Amino acid sequence: MAPKMLKYGEFDVWRIKGNPDLSLLSRDELERFHAMRGENTRQIFSLSRSAIHKIGDFYKVQEISEKCIHVHPGGKPFFVNNPNLHFSLSHTEEELAIAFSCTPVGFDLEKKGRRSREWASLARRFFSTEEAAKVEAAAGDMERCFLEFWTGKEAILKLDGSGISGGLERARVWSDSEGSMGERRVYLHRINWPAHIAHVASFEKISSVRLRELILE
Ligand SMILES: CC(C)(COP(=O)(O)OP(=O)(O)OC[C@H]1O[C@@H](n2cnc3c(N)ncnc32)[C@H](O)[C@@H]1OP(=O)(O)O)[C@@H](O)C(=O)NCCC(=O)NCCS
Repeated sequence: MAPKMLKYGEFDVWRIKGNPDLSLLSRDELERFHAMRGENTRQIFSLSRSAIHKIGDFYKVQEISEKCIHVHPGGKPFFVNNPNLHFSLSHTEEELAIAFSCTPVGFDLEKKGRRSREWASLARRFFSTEEAAKVEAAAGDMERCFLEFWTGKEAILKLDGSGISGGLERARVWSDSEGSMGERRVYLHRINWPAHIAHVASFEKISSVRLRELILE
Protein backbone atom coordinates (compact mmCIF):
# COMPACT_ATOMS: atom_id res chain seq x y z
CA MET A 1 0.00 0.00 0.00
CA ALA A 2 1.40 3.40 -0.97
CA PRO A 3 1.22 5.87 1.93
CA LYS A 4 -1.23 8.72 1.54
CA MET A 5 -2.58 11.73 3.37
CA LEU A 6 -6.22 12.31 4.11
CA LYS A 7 -7.73 15.44 2.59
CA TYR A 8 -10.21 17.70 4.37
CA GLY A 9 -13.66 16.05 4.32
CA GLU A 10 -12.27 12.58 3.54
CA PHE A 11 -12.92 9.76 5.98
CA ASP A 12 -11.46 6.26 5.82
CA VAL A 13 -13.14 3.49 7.81
CA TRP A 14 -10.88 0.49 8.28
CA ARG A 15 -12.28 -2.97 8.94
CA ILE A 16 -9.65 -4.78 10.99
CA LYS A 17 -9.05 -8.51 10.75
CA GLY A 18 -6.23 -10.85 11.72
CA ASN A 19 -4.04 -11.04 14.80
CA PRO A 20 -2.41 -8.44 17.08
CA ASP A 21 1.26 -7.64 16.52
CA LEU A 22 2.59 -6.82 20.00
CA SER A 23 5.87 -5.55 18.53
CA LEU A 24 3.92 -2.49 17.28
CA LEU A 25 2.77 -1.47 20.78
CA SER A 26 4.57 1.16 22.87
CA ARG A 27 6.05 0.24 26.26
CA ASP A 28 3.09 1.86 28.06
CA GLU A 29 0.62 -0.06 25.94
CA LEU A 30 2.42 -3.33 26.60
CA GLU A 31 2.28 -2.64 30.34
CA ARG A 32 -1.44 -1.91 30.06
CA PHE A 33 -1.93 -5.05 27.98
CA HIS A 34 -0.17 -7.30 30.50
CA ALA A 35 -2.13 -5.78 33.40
CA MET A 36 -5.48 -6.40 31.67
CA ARG A 37 -7.80 -9.13 32.85
CA GLY A 38 -9.89 -11.12 30.41
CA GLU A 39 -8.69 -12.62 27.16
CA ASN A 40 -11.30 -10.80 25.11
CA THR A 41 -10.36 -7.37 26.51
CA ARG A 42 -6.66 -8.04 25.86
CA GLN A 43 -7.39 -9.26 22.34
CA ILE A 44 -9.46 -6.18 21.41
CA PHE A 45 -6.98 -3.75 22.97
CA SER A 46 -3.90 -5.32 21.36
CA LEU A 47 -5.56 -5.74 17.96
CA SER A 48 -6.94 -2.19 17.90
CA ARG A 49 -3.65 -0.62 19.05
CA SER A 50 -1.65 -2.73 16.55
CA ALA A 51 -4.00 -1.53 13.81
CA ILE A 52 -3.85 2.15 14.88
CA HIS A 53 -0.03 2.08 14.78
CA LYS A 54 0.00 0.31 11.42
CA ILE A 55 -2.54 2.68 9.89
CA GLY A 56 -0.66 5.63 11.44
CA ASP A 57 2.33 4.50 9.34
CA PHE A 58 0.11 4.39 6.28
CA TYR A 59 -0.82 8.04 6.84
CA LYS A 60 2.85 8.90 7.27
CA VAL A 61 2.93 9.21 11.05
CA GLN A 62 6.46 7.89 10.86
CA GLU A 63 8.30 8.61 14.08
CA ILE A 64 7.58 6.15 16.87
CA SER A 65 7.55 8.99 19.41
CA GLU A 66 5.03 10.85 17.24
CA LYS A 67 2.75 7.84 17.16
CA CYS A 68 2.34 7.93 20.91
CA ILE A 69 -1.33 7.46 21.83
CA HIS A 70 -2.82 8.98 24.96
CA VAL A 71 -6.36 8.79 26.32
CA HIS A 72 -8.41 11.87 27.30
CA PRO A 73 -9.99 11.70 30.78
CA GLY A 74 -13.37 10.94 29.14
CA GLY A 75 -11.89 7.87 27.39
CA LYS A 76 -11.14 9.19 23.88
CA PRO A 77 -7.78 7.96 22.54
CA PHE A 78 -5.70 10.32 20.36
CA PHE A 79 -2.25 10.73 18.77
CA VAL A 80 -0.31 13.02 21.09
CA ASN A 81 1.81 14.81 18.49
CA ASN A 82 -0.40 14.55 15.44
CA PRO A 83 -3.18 17.14 15.57
CA ASN A 84 -3.91 16.45 11.88
CA LEU A 85 -4.75 12.78 12.24
CA HIS A 86 -7.80 11.72 14.24
CA PHE A 87 -9.39 8.33 14.78
CA SER A 88 -12.34 6.70 16.49
CA LEU A 89 -12.91 3.01 17.04
CA SER A 90 -15.77 0.67 17.71
CA HIS A 91 -16.05 -3.05 18.18
CA THR A 92 -18.70 -5.72 18.45
CA GLU A 93 -18.34 -9.47 19.01
CA GLU A 94 -17.50 -9.91 15.33
CA GLU A 95 -16.12 -6.64 14.06
CA LEU A 96 -13.45 -4.12 14.91
CA ALA A 97 -13.41 -0.94 12.84
CA ILE A 98 -11.55 2.36 13.09
CA ALA A 99 -12.41 5.62 11.32
CA PHE A 100 -9.58 8.04 10.42
CA SER A 101 -9.75 11.65 9.34
CA CYS A 102 -7.66 14.83 9.37
CA THR A 103 -10.36 16.49 11.51
CA PRO A 104 -12.05 15.15 14.67
CA VAL A 105 -14.20 12.09 14.02
CA GLY A 106 -16.62 9.87 15.92
CA PHE A 107 -17.51 6.36 14.83
CA ASP A 108 -19.87 3.70 16.14
CA LEU A 109 -20.89 0.25 14.97
CA GLU A 110 -23.65 -1.98 16.35
CA LYS A 111 -24.70 -5.48 15.41
CA LYS A 112 -28.19 -6.14 14.03
CA GLY A 113 -30.37 -9.16 14.79
CA ARG A 114 -30.60 -8.97 18.58
CA ARG A 115 -33.24 -10.90 20.42
CA SER A 116 -34.68 -7.85 22.22
CA ARG A 117 -38.17 -6.83 21.17
CA GLU A 118 -38.13 -3.83 23.49
CA TRP A 119 -37.00 -1.25 20.96
CA ALA A 120 -39.87 1.13 21.66
CA SER A 121 -39.34 1.14 25.45
CA LEU A 122 -35.56 1.44 25.05
CA ALA A 123 -36.13 4.37 22.70
CA ARG A 124 -38.47 6.04 25.22
CA ARG A 125 -35.83 5.58 27.91
CA PHE A 126 -32.78 6.83 25.99
CA PHE A 127 -34.05 9.03 23.15
CA SER A 128 -35.95 12.31 22.83
CA THR A 129 -39.74 12.22 22.47
CA GLU A 130 -39.51 12.87 18.69
CA GLU A 131 -36.83 10.22 18.19
CA ALA A 132 -38.74 7.63 20.23
CA ALA A 133 -41.89 8.38 18.21
CA LYS A 134 -39.98 7.68 14.98
CA VAL A 135 -38.80 4.33 16.34
CA GLU A 136 -42.36 3.37 17.29
CA ALA A 137 -43.65 4.46 13.89
CA ALA A 138 -41.10 2.16 12.19
CA ALA A 139 -43.32 -0.79 13.27
CA GLY A 140 -41.81 -3.91 11.62
CA ASP A 141 -38.45 -2.18 11.19
CA MET A 142 -37.98 -0.88 14.72
CA GLU A 143 -34.59 -2.47 15.32
CA ARG A 144 -33.03 -0.83 12.25
CA CYS A 145 -34.55 2.53 13.17
CA PHE A 146 -33.43 2.23 16.82
CA LEU A 147 -29.87 1.27 15.85
CA GLU A 148 -29.65 4.12 13.36
CA PHE A 149 -30.39 6.59 16.18
CA TRP A 150 -28.19 4.72 18.65
CA THR A 151 -25.10 4.56 16.43
CA GLY A 152 -25.63 8.16 15.34
CA LYS A 153 -25.75 9.32 18.96
CA GLU A 154 -22.76 7.26 20.01
CA ALA A 155 -20.75 8.53 17.05
CA ILE A 156 -21.64 12.11 18.07
CA LEU A 157 -20.65 11.47 21.71
CA LYS A 158 -17.34 9.99 20.56
CA LEU A 159 -16.75 12.93 18.19
CA ASP A 160 -17.28 15.28 21.12
CA GLY A 161 -15.02 13.12 23.28
CA SER A 162 -17.32 13.26 26.27
CA GLY A 163 -18.74 9.76 25.77
CA ILE A 164 -21.84 8.89 27.67
CA SER A 165 -21.12 11.53 30.31
CA GLY A 166 -21.65 14.18 27.60
CA GLY A 167 -25.39 13.67 28.05
CA LEU A 168 -27.39 11.48 25.70
CA GLU A 169 -30.02 14.20 25.35
CA ARG A 170 -27.42 16.61 23.92
CA ALA A 171 -26.50 14.23 21.07
CA ARG A 172 -29.31 14.53 18.51
CA VAL A 173 -29.81 12.82 15.16
CA TRP A 174 -31.93 15.02 12.89
CA SER A 175 -31.64 13.14 9.58
CA ASP A 176 -29.44 10.70 7.63
CA SER A 177 -26.81 13.37 7.26
CA GLU A 178 -27.24 15.84 10.12
CA GLY A 179 -27.24 15.91 13.88
CA SER A 180 -26.08 18.14 16.70
CA MET A 181 -24.13 18.07 19.94
CA GLY A 182 -25.68 20.71 22.14
CA GLU A 183 -25.78 23.83 19.98
CA ARG A 184 -23.12 22.60 17.58
CA ARG A 185 -24.00 21.19 14.18
CA VAL A 186 -22.73 17.70 13.33
CA TYR A 187 -22.53 15.97 9.95
CA LEU A 188 -23.38 12.28 9.83
CA HIS A 189 -22.78 9.47 7.35
CA ARG A 190 -24.47 6.10 7.75
CA ILE A 191 -22.82 2.88 6.63
CA ASN A 192 -24.79 -0.30 6.06
CA TRP A 193 -22.10 -2.68 7.23
CA PRO A 194 -22.63 -6.46 6.82
CA ALA A 195 -24.98 -7.48 9.69
CA HIS A 196 -24.31 -4.11 11.40
CA ILE A 197 -25.23 -0.45 11.26
CA ALA A 198 -22.51 2.18 11.57
CA HIS A 199 -22.24 5.96 11.69
CA VAL A 200 -19.43 8.42 11.11
CA ALA A 201 -19.84 11.83 12.79
CA SER A 202 -17.88 15.01 12.05
CA PHE A 203 -18.05 18.73 12.85
CA GLU A 204 -16.86 19.36 9.28
CA LYS A 205 -18.72 18.47 6.06
CA ILE A 206 -18.19 14.88 4.97
CA SER A 207 -17.26 14.66 1.30
CA SER A 208 -16.34 10.97 1.13
CA VAL A 209 -16.29 7.87 3.31
CA ARG A 210 -14.12 5.07 2.00
CA LEU A 211 -14.18 1.55 3.39
CA ARG A 212 -10.78 -0.12 3.67
CA GLU A 213 -9.54 -3.39 5.13
CA LEU A 214 -6.44 -4.17 7.14
CA ILE A 215 -5.50 -7.80 7.75
CA LEU A 216 -2.81 -8.07 10.39
CA GLU A 217 -0.72 -11.22 9.90
C1 LIG B 1 -17.59 5.40 24.14
C2 LIG B 1 -19.04 5.11 24.38
C3 LIG B 1 -19.88 6.26 23.84
C4 LIG B 1 -19.45 3.89 23.59
O1 LIG B 1 -18.84 2.71 23.89
P1 LIG B 1 -19.39 1.30 23.39
O2 LIG B 1 -20.45 1.45 22.35
O3 LIG B 1 -19.76 0.56 24.61
O4 LIG B 1 -18.12 0.57 22.72
P2 LIG B 1 -17.42 0.80 21.31
O5 LIG B 1 -16.67 -0.44 20.99
O6 LIG B 1 -18.35 1.29 20.26
O7 LIG B 1 -16.37 1.97 21.60
C5 LIG B 1 -15.34 1.78 22.54
C6 LIG B 1 -14.20 2.68 22.14
O8 LIG B 1 -14.64 4.03 22.13
C7 LIG B 1 -13.54 4.86 22.45
N1 LIG B 1 -13.97 5.79 23.49
C8 LIG B 1 -14.17 5.55 24.81
N2 LIG B 1 -14.57 6.68 25.42
C9 LIG B 1 -14.60 7.63 24.47
C10 LIG B 1 -14.92 9.01 24.50
N3 LIG B 1 -15.28 9.64 25.61
N4 LIG B 1 -14.85 9.71 23.34
C11 LIG B 1 -14.47 9.11 22.19
N5 LIG B 1 -14.16 7.79 22.09
C12 LIG B 1 -14.22 7.07 23.25
C13 LIG B 1 -12.39 3.98 22.92
O9 LIG B 1 -11.47 3.89 21.84
C14 LIG B 1 -13.07 2.65 23.16
O10 LIG B 1 -12.26 1.54 22.86
P3 LIG B 1 -10.95 1.20 23.74
O11 LIG B 1 -11.35 1.43 25.14
O12 LIG B 1 -10.67 -0.22 23.40
O13 LIG B 1 -9.89 2.15 23.25
C15 LIG B 1 -19.18 5.03 25.91
O14 LIG B 1 -19.12 6.32 26.40
C16 LIG B 1 -20.36 4.48 26.58
O15 LIG B 1 -20.36 4.56 27.77
N6 LIG B 1 -21.42 3.94 26.03
C17 LIG B 1 -22.57 3.41 26.78
C18 LIG B 1 -23.63 2.93 25.87
C19 LIG B 1 -24.84 3.83 25.83
O16 LIG B 1 -25.56 4.00 26.79
N7 LIG B 1 -25.14 4.39 24.66
C20 LIG B 1 -26.30 5.17 24.43
C21 LIG B 1 -26.38 5.62 22.99
S1 LIG B 1 -28.01 6.18 22.66
